[in-house]
Amino acid sequence: MKITDLNSLSEIDKSLIYKAIEIRQSAYAPYSGYKVGAALTDAAGKIHTGCNIESAVLTLTSHAEMVAIDSMVKSVCLSFNRIAIALRGTGESPATPCGLCRQKMSEFDKSGNSIILIANLDDNDQLINIHETSLKELLPYPFGGDNIG
Ligand code: THU
Ligand code: ZN
Repeated sequence: MKITDLNSLSEIDKSLIYKAIEIRQSAYAPYSGYKVGAALTDAAGKIHTGCNIESAVLTLTSHAEMVAIDSMVKSVCLSFNRIAIALRGTGESPATPCGLCRQKMSEFDKSGNSIILIANLDDNDQLINIHETSLKELLPYPFGGDNIG
């Protein structure tokens, strides 16, 4: 995982970060108070966004990354090549996508080489830092469809 900054990112990556930060404001998180935003570019070049949506039945919660991926699938595209995730992370190590989201991402990033940009924000929603990584690094041994069939 390498730390990077906005100025060294390409225009598309910058805009994915901004879109993830923006959609994070739409998160419905009355129970945890923890808002997450995600924005991805699919293989057709289209951008999809998502935010977390909680429910009083907590296991019904949709995670931001999952909502963005579901939007992509609904537009009949089954892979993404870059995704930005915006979430609060003020600890020593960065806040990163959860294990469920890593697994969900792996379904639509079979190579594990898609760019994952993680924007950590402080308590005032200000950008602290950006980390760049991949599923190869975050989920080196995903459960795959070939394990079922
Ligand atoms: N959350 C996400 O949306 N994505 C993640 O990868 C981490 C967790 C949401 C779920 C829940 O609404 C809140 O953050 C706290 O777990
Ligand atoms: Zn998650």
